[in-house]
Amino acid sequence: MPMNHYEAAVTASGAGSLAGEFQRVDRVSDPGRFVACLERLSSIPFFRDYKSGSRAALGLRPGDRVLEVGCGLGLDLAALGADVGPRGLAVGLDASRVMLERAGKGRAEAAGRGQSLSLAFAAGDALDLPFAAASFHACRVDRTLQHVVDPFRALAEMARVTRPGGRVLAVEPDWGSYLLDAADPEAAGIVARTWRDGFPSGRAGRTLVRGMAACGLTDIAVTPRTFVLRDFATADAIYDIERSVAGAVAAGSLTQERAAAFLAGLVQADARGCFFSSLTFFEVMGRRPGG
Ligand SMILES: C[S@@+](CC[C@H](N)C(=O)[O-])C[C@H]1O[C@@H](n2cnc3c(N)ncnc32)[C@H](O)[C@@H]1O
Repeated sequence: MPMNHYEAAVTASGAGSLAGEFQRVDRVSDPGRFVACLERLSSIPFFRDYKSGSRAALGLRPGDRVLEVGCGLGLDLAALGADVGPRGLAVGLDASRVMLERAGKGRAEAAGRGQSLSLAFAAGDALDLPFAAASFHACRVDRTLQHVVDPFRALAEMARVTRPGGRVLAVEPDWGSYLLDAADPEAAGIVARTWRDGFPSGRAGRTLVRGMAACGLTDIAVTPRTFVLRDFATADAIYDIERSVAGAVAAGSLTQERAAAFLAGLVQADARGCFFSSLTFFEVMGRRPGG
């Protein structure tokens, strides 16, 4: 019997899925796959560019205290630490001890190179931040709200711990904007929706303005950033394309034959230099009133 919509999403986000299991990295059988995914992304110029642009938008000053929610490998955290200097403090929070260990190693390696950064790490949940109100001059989150069940609550927590006058910044993709070019565009749509629905909050990107307004932030500004990826191997590694295709087959949304033709078409397009995928990220920044 074909699966319903929910079962299909769960299948696509099954064991080890990058969409469904970034919220529980410490409990998956192969956390190294999640670390490797973040390492791969950090080497792509699009990601480096939007990250440095969004950090600059925060307008941090030496001596500031800044929080990075869902700090992952800690690469942004180290850059934020450099922005606030030795008199400031950059705090990285993550739900995963595996990620926090990696981030701590990065700091130790930087210290070994003589670069001393004022960083601190905290294990915790974005939905219930373990900090007092108004503890930070600014708060940033990057591709983590898509992995939480209630992004508005996470934004409200970020607003709470930010001082009056301080900035809250979020960068999230919206998986409704995820496009794959294929000779069978309907199959491409099914695969993209299967992947999107494997995230706890696959539509987080489009909701950021509303979420920031709901927690009282003002001066909300949006910067869209579109990532065009022309290489199937990288797309498969970061978008789990083959897993989504398998999920769509298991759900009864695609036949085996159609799925195989779809995947073969992507590989052939890649060989001809014609593979095309696209995804839009939204960088949204608001200000806590007062200050
Ligand atoms: C896709 S990664 C992004 C990491 C980093 N921000 C970056 O840009 O590379 C998502 C991160 O959020 C963390 N995470 C997921 N759910 C979380 C939650 N509820 N609270 C805190 N961190 C969470 C994961 O452990 C992971 O490190």
